[in-house]
Amino acid sequence: MIYRKSSLPIWAVLVILFVASTGSVFAFSFGPPEGLTGSPPNGANCTQCHVGNTLNDADGSLMLTIPETYEPNEIYTIVVNLSRDGQSRWGFEMTALDGNGARAGSFEVSDAANTQLKEKDSKQYIMHTSAGSAQGTEDENQWTVEWTAPDADIGPITFYAAGNAANGDGGTAGDYIYTTSEESTPPVPVVAGVSLEIVGDTALSTIDAVAGVSYALKVTNTGNMMDTIMLEASAEVGIEGSVLGALSDRSVALEAGAAAEVTLKVTGDLFAKPGEYPIRVTATSKTDGTKTAEVTTTTTIETPPPPPPPPTPWDVNDDGTVNVQDLVLVANELGESGESLKGDVNGDGTVDIRDLVLVASHFGEDTSN
Ligand code: HEC
Repeated sequence: MIYRKSSLPIWAVLVILFVASTGSVFAFSFGPPEGLTGSPPNGANCTQCHVGNTLNDADGSLMLTIPETYEPNEIYTIVVNLSRDGQSRWGFEMTALDGNGARAGSFEVSDAANTQLKEKDSKQYIMHTSAGSAQGTEDENQWTVEWTAPDADIGPITFYAAGNAANGDGGTAGDYIYTTSEESTPPVPVVAGVSLEIVGDTALSTIDAVAGVSYALKVTNTGNMMDTIMLEASAEVGIEGSVLGALSDRSVALEAGAAAEVTLKVTGDLFAKPGEYPIRVTATSKTDGTKTAEVTTTTTIETPPPPPPPPTPWDVNDDGTVNVQDLVLVANELGESGESLKGDVNGDGTVDIRDLVLVASHFGEDTSN
């Protein structure tokens, strides 16, 4: 008799717990039955009991912040947001499955007051608690949960969730059910790649080996992440080391897909011999040394033109022979002074006997070559 007063609530609590655990129609605001996230194969969701309104009615929404890609063992915070104007009580359930419909990763309860975790058929279902149904919260509610990605790439993972934007009447009528699913894809494998091309001419020639020639090269990071591309010009070139290939950059840092232009300058020293000089440029990914690309330029150092023939000012009229006509031309200008006088054979600024003597001393010479 003394205990009767206190034993009644304990009994009531036990009944409520029993009822909830057996999936009876009572006390679902404590947390819905497992397996109602709208996931395949049957797509079962809360509309099994919450009937009367269309599923996914346009004036509300259920949204999940799922990582677009997952990294093994990484912990992600997922926010479940449910909204519908005019509603005032809320519930949700979510699971994560792999391509075969098996459990993927692990949910953890990070907010025990508002969320709880249950398991059924080796799958996890995270859902609201009684307090987490947020009775009286108008128009929108959200829950935060934690999910740890599997320890390896298991292919795409789909998160399935169902939400109940309820009217708070403690029953199943007048509630709006929403379902959604979001995919998280496996980590993208890192792939390095490089391409190299010559912009414009691949073969240039010059007579001036010292000034040299320049080639424009385009180096591209064809990989899927930031990379540094190392560049090298072949060293064994030319003869006696007389021609060198100098690159404007020995390395370039490039975003995925980005390209940069570098210059290859081919120069020789004074003793560069005429000929063809192939120079190979190799580009190598710093991330993956097996990814390389190469191009070859060919530079021709031309034979210099023959030196101009020695001047023969004594052939005054430049007709190929030193003869009397040249003497006459000098004689005609005798005594004159100034610049560019034809008769000023020795170039001292005056036409005089010395110029006549010079012509005479070359008299009869053939100056044609
Ligand atoms: C087997 C039937 C059944 C299923 C399935 C079911 N519920 Fe319920 N739900 C009920 C009943 C009965 C009530 C009213 C009693 C209560 O509040 O516990 C209820 C009440 C609720 C309430 C409070 C409603 C209000 O207006 O006060 C929320 C929120 C809720 N359920 C969420 C869900 C969600 C989310 C799902 C699906 C993941 C779901 N329920 C699936 C039977 C169900």
